[in-house]
Amino acid sequence: MAPRAAYYLSTPIYYVNDSPHIGHAYTSLACDVLARFMRLDGRDVMFLTGTDEHGQKVEKSAIAAGMEPQDFVDQVSERFRALGEVMGFSNDDFIRTTEDRHTRSCQELWRRIEANGHIYLGKYAGWYSVREEAFCTESEVRDGPDGGKVTVADGSPVEWVEEPSYFFRLSDWQEPLLEFYEKNPEAVAPQSRRNEVISFVSGGLHDLSVSRASLKWGIPVPDAPDHTMYVWLDALTNYISAAGFPDTDSRTWRTYWPADLHMVGKDILRFHTVYWPAFLMAAGVEPPTRVFAHGWWTNEGEKMSKSVGNVIDPHDIVARYGLDAVRYFLLRALPFGSDGDFSHRAIVGRMNDDLANDYGNLAQRVLTMVNRNCDAAVPEPGAFTAADNTLLGAAEALVETVRTDLGEQGFHRALIHIWEVVGQANRYVDEQAPWVLRKEDPARMATVLYVVIETLRHLAVLTQSYMPSSSGRMLDQLGVAEDARMLAALGPEGRLEPGTPLPKPEPIFPRFVEDSVAS
Ligand code: MSP
Repeated sequence: MAPRAAYYLSTPIYYVNDSPHIGHAYTSLACDVLARFMRLDGRDVMFLTGTDEHGQKVEKSAIAAGMEPQDFVDQVSERFRALGEVMGFSNDDFIRTTEDRHTRSCQELWRRIEANGHIYLGKYAGWYSVREEAFCTESEVRDGPDGGKVTVADGSPVEWVEEPSYFFRLSDWQEPLLEFYEKNPEAVAPQSRRNEVISFVSGGLHDLSVSRASLKWGIPVPDAPDHTMYVWLDALTNYISAAGFPDTDSRTWRTYWPADLHMVGKDILRFHTVYWPAFLMAAGVEPPTRVFAHGWWTNEGEKMSKSVGNVIDPHDIVARYGLDAVRYFLLRALPFGSDGDFSHRAIVGRMNDDLANDYGNLAQRVLTMVNRNCDAAVPEPGAFTAADNTLLGAAEALVETVRTDLGEQGFHRALIHIWEVVGQANRYVDEQAPWVLRKEDPARMATVLYVVIETLRHLAVLTQSYMPSSSGRMLDQLGVAEDARMLAALGPEGRLEPGTPLPKPEPIFPRFVEDSVAS
């Protein structure tokens, strides 16, 4: 048998200076849906997430917490693992930048870049934003409210740094990078971000400071123990550390690198699409195939911030609305790539309209009829009419549409396409009126019910990656065996077997009732 095609995707690794919030959950959720979908599609998936534990920001937070950095990062990193459990993430690995495998990989990457002549010792004199862990040029800073300087990008304070530093010859990489984007139109997505990156690189690149002499909490530069590596060089390298670098003969490296997808937020686009491919090319390593930058969430119209106290904790919303409703909402509410707003009203609307009314009721009313009128088993269909074939055809065509949508990270588009078939199935039930057929033509009723539950099978298989638990329960109610839930089962040969016993139907998507919430 041919080996299963590999699919390697990663989330950014999260700074451990803070507790996880909905923004972190969002990036990982998108990856989780894709990872699950690819597994259902028979791919050999490696889904990586982890924590970014070095640098000044984390060191400062450790000091503020009165802890040793290592104890501090051990504690906060656990919260990100716990987030994965609450959100149902199915990552295959969790990397921490304080692990030995990562130190080894970073130092070797450095050695290769240096051996190829792309690193030199100089002196940095300029601005540094601790919040963004970024060096800033004069044009990237402005006067701040209290006499100091802040970044133009997000108003975070910058400090003046003057110290010996190793530099990466980023200025040499303008042409190779532009050529890379040109030859790989899919390498940066969505298109608007690609344009943004190309325009930034076309404007010329400065050499990049890649070590800090004043920072202890980091990975030592090989043969220069007074310097620690710049935290972004350290952090980006996680993607290759987890794939086995520098052991390039290892099975994991040969199977998974280059990564198929790095999923990131729009704020960290430049690090992933300019610095990272340049570092890799300078070391003679192939860059990742694709980086997709998604948008940012606000809460009820406002930017989330600790000082405002409006940061959404994923644990709270999962407890309030239920995990699958949260997973569905986050990926359905806005086009993936755009910014969006989290609001109670919006999520309740989606829960009650899309999930409870359109999808849940369809399943409940049809399965209840099957239970009562067809001996609680998959009914035996007669010959299909044109209307039956239209609905079955739409259901069967979905898998290819969803595969294309998700291949382009169109998470919302895939759901829209799935719900078009939900709507079509509801209209079909209303038109065919099986409750009338029950008396007039029971054989035809059996066919109609069969067509709808077979459509539901497609819907449930295709929504598994978004709502694993609810879709699993739906498939249980349809009598679909555990080993028949892959996408490969979605052809006509995988159709429901008449006579298969079905359990008593239970509602899967509850309506959200305001009064039931204790406030
Ligand atoms: N440590 C770096 C990434 C290094 S990757 C080699 C980092 N960490 S972070 O914890 O600050 O952010 C991680 C991700 O969370 C980013 O993709 C960021 O865009 C995302 N989000 C943080 N706040 C967000 C929102 N309010 N909305 C959506 N995503 C946001 O950056």
